[in-house]
Amino acid sequence: MTPKAPATGHLSPRITDDGSFSLHSAEFAEGFHSRRGALLEAHCTYVNPAQLERFSAGEELTLVDVCVGLGTNSAALLEAAVPLGIRLRWFGLEIDPSPLALALAQPCFRRQWQPALGLDLLQQLQTSGRWLSPHGRGEMLWGDARGQIEALLGQVAGRCDLVMLDAFSPRHCPQLWSQEFLAALSGLLAPRGRLLTYCSAAAPRRSLMAAGLPLAALRSEASDPGAEAGDDLGDDPNGAWSAGTVAGPELEPSSPWWRPLSAMEREHLLSRAGEPYRDPSGTAAASTILTERLSAQALSGAEPASVWRRRWGLPGGAR
Ligand SMILES: C[S@@+](CC[C@H](N)C(=O)[O-])C[C@H]1O[C@@H](n2cnc3c(N)ncnc32)[C@H](O)[C@@H]1O
Repeated sequence: MTPKAPATGHLSPRITDDGSFSLHSAEFAEGFHSRRGALLEAHCTYVNPAQLERFSAGEELTLVDVCVGLGTNSAALLEAAVPLGIRLRWFGLEIDPSPLALALAQPCFRRQWQPALGLDLLQQLQTSGRWLSPHGRGEMLWGDARGQIEALLGQVAGRCDLVMLDAFSPRHCPQLWSQEFLAALSGLLAPRGRLLTYCSAAAPRRSLMAAGLPLAALRSEASDPGAEAGDDLGDDPNGAWSAGTVAGPELEPSSPWWRPLSAMEREHLLSRAGEPYRDPSGTAAASTILTERLSAQALSGAEPASVWRRRWGLPGGAR
């Protein structure tokens, strides 16, 4: 179903299957959220595995939203934290103010949120780039996240409880999945902190491990009861088995929300699919990062991903 509002530039509105509002980007050729539900994804991928019950009433949770977009993930997190008495110290990274503006212009999007909580957060961020409320405080760092990460590290390195990484997929936005950017995000985490992402691709997982973070696979059955094996294999060969990745310096090997990587996933990391995206300057164009990775894969002695696929009976395996 498509809402009545017209498409704005490279962004067009859409309603996802759970009735929540989202956008599609023509520039990145990708939707902002799972078509099964923007709100469903916010809860399954970010809010639930954050395990907010770990925090006590009155405690301040430091949170970085990487790629704020419409703000769905942050608003959902805030509305789950407030009933527990948790306050947020919030930081957002985002290059484009138009997704938030476009969403807030939609009555159906505004109705998704409690006026004094999620809606207040998003309106304040849009108006002033800051958020001040009885439930916490925050600031938006507008611009290329790669350019803002140093400033953020200067403020909260080693002190973040949650990093929610929701960039477009590595194929379309490799600059936010590079070994260098992921290492910087890892540096934000407190010992008990967690980085959460919908992405289960091999290269970012290998880069997170190279940054010294234990990681695990978000359970697809817990995260998305509607997921069907074999679905969503396009960009992410593991999509049908894992709903994303959680990483953290002191991450427990398993929980109701995640499990250890399977043998298939561990072998995936070692194949050429695990070849990292590299961006040492932090300014490379997406096309350059993709081309250089292809060259590195061609020179790699690692098993081709097509052979790995064949061994595990996955679509696209080499004959
Ligand atoms: C998948 S959407 C994020 C959805 C969002 N988390 C939400 O809940 O609505 C990806 C976002 O990344 C932003 N983006 C793309 N490249 C970026 C960059 N280099 N730095 C910061 N943000 C970027 C896009 O503008 C877009 O809003």
